[in-house]
Amino acid sequence: MTYRYMTNNRMNLKKAAFPAVFLVASLCWSQQHAVPDASVPPPPMGWSSWNSFSNRIDSQIAVAQAKAMIDSGMARHGYQYINIDEGWWLGARDEAGNIVVDKKQWPALTPDEQPGDMSNIVKYIHSLGLKAGIYTDAGESGCSFYGPDLGPPMRHTGSEGHYEQDFLQFAKWGFDYVKVDWCGGNSENLDPALQYAEIARAIKKAEQITGHTLYFSICNWGKDSPWTWGPGIRGVTADIWRTSGDIVAPIVADSPNSGRRASYTGMLGNFDKGIHPEAQHTGFYNDPDMMVLGMPGLTDAQNRVHMMLWAISGAPLIVGADLTKLDPQTLAMLTNKEVLAVDQDPLGLQAIKIAGGDSSAEIWVKKLAGTTKDTGRRAVLLLNRSKNDLPATISWSEIGLKAGTADVHDAWTSKDLGQHINSYQTTVAGGDAVMLIIDGDETWEGPYRAVEISGKEFKDGTNKSAWRLSDVKSASNNTWLRIAYSNPGAEADLMELRINGERQSIISFPPTGTADKKAVTVEVRLKGGNAANEVVFSPAEPEQTTLDRAYIISIKQ
Ligand code: GAL
Repeated sequence: MTYRYMTNNRMNLKKAAFPAVFLVASLCWSQQHAVPDASVPPPPMGWSSWNSFSNRIDSQIAVAQAKAMIDSGMARHGYQYINIDEGWWLGARDEAGNIVVDKKQWPALTPDEQPGDMSNIVKYIHSLGLKAGIYTDAGESGCSFYGPDLGPPMRHTGSEGHYEQDFLQFAKWGFDYVKVDWCGGNSENLDPALQYAEIARAIKKAEQITGHTLYFSICNWGKDSPWTWGPGIRGVTADIWRTSGDIVAPIVADSPNSGRRASYTGMLGNFDKGIHPEAQHTGFYNDPDMMVLGMPGLTDAQNRVHMMLWAISGAPLIVGADLTKLDPQTLAMLTNKEVLAVDQDPLGLQAIKIAGGDSSAEIWVKKLAGTTKDTGRRAVLLLNRSKNDLPATISWSEIGLKAGTADVHDAWTSKDLGQHINSYQTTVAGGDAVMLIIDGDETWEGPYRAVEISGKEFKDGTNKSAWRLSDVKSASNNTWLRIAYSNPGAEADLMELRINGERQSIISFPPTGTADKKAVTVEVRLKGGNAANEVVFSPAEPEQTTLDRAYIISIKQ
């Protein structure tokens, strides 16, 4: 679990809006303009062994994939993790409970190394400038026991009973990323939120002991809605959480399952299940699963749609295909610069669906940071799930931009489509998608209502343990809130977000480094149609009765 906090004083901070509600920086217009956006950690990019190698992963495969990540140029585009999934460990431990791995599967890679030491492969991956990921299960035995894909069932392939020992071991070996699966947890009927909190604490402890951070990936397929607790479980955080099952079972060349095919419908289903915009903020991400792009089963058009969907969701881009066999077309899709920039945008937000479906293409919009003109910037995905061509019209008002002129650009083809007034109209081919970048002016109207939270006492409202805004109105069901705060501490502050009495997520306010304020943008689900909503932020933990940082928040409605 990590918070690699970045500061970035970009100049695009003038306004934040959509469509009618704002939490902005400060008590007056000029101060509000002065607070820069925090630049949050982007979703991870890398490769995982599971989809193309199943549990046959070994040192040779990991070395070849790491080399391919460099040789293909993918690393230059930001791909960095080589993630070793199930099958690396067969469940053996020594008398002291330490994990023991097969010496042939993980040999020495240099004359001064010992076989059977996982730090050998980590050193190799690091020597290429890449990062290394490892895998375990929250239960006593993992998926390789409960549902082995290739090979016999392997007992005791989970970390339960050894959390502190195993995560310390992973950090000592030098791993940078750990994915924790749920096959054992599920079979034992464990509570995911409790179990992953315990794991998060073990990870935190391992980080404190070694000084080495472990990116924490929860993989419980969306059970018990991890997006409602992932960003802050009992005061500790996970970085990403899976929102659904696997898109595809592994397709391993020269194996009994080489005939499997990735399914386009499965990929679309995972995209839909991964949309929880209220939980995706300040560096925490919904994970719709590794990509199947480049694996057998999808056409070029379907691969293109897949790439655009993951990018507009700001999803982790973990490639499941064999990197040594990518054809030039697939490689070009995976490294499309402008589409990657949409995925990696420093506001770290997810797309929301604003229109379409039957007689017109779906319109998905993601608010982006940074423009060249100090204006509002949006990534817009037009998705056509039908076989027939469909029209799409994007009105500036629907995507939170002022009426008037905006620049329209095709992100996939990198072509300017000119200036357009008030709206843009196009046709999307059957089974295809279009990704646009639209630069216009943020909507910004109406008077302020300022609310200040500082120290223990809430200056607006009576409840001392919660910050409450009633009567928040929005034209649409989804709204972006911009919150300015300062957190000079070393840890993120975790606040629960409730809308109309319903818990939406935990919002994490990362360290700002200094007492200076930074702004983060989060998405919330409200009753639209300008109905009155109550928005409440309260300390995430019941025992945390006061806020020990200063938050200054104002709302415009
Ligand atoms: C699943 C998980 C996959 C892969 C597999 C290994 O539970 O969703 O991504 O890790 O286990 O068995």
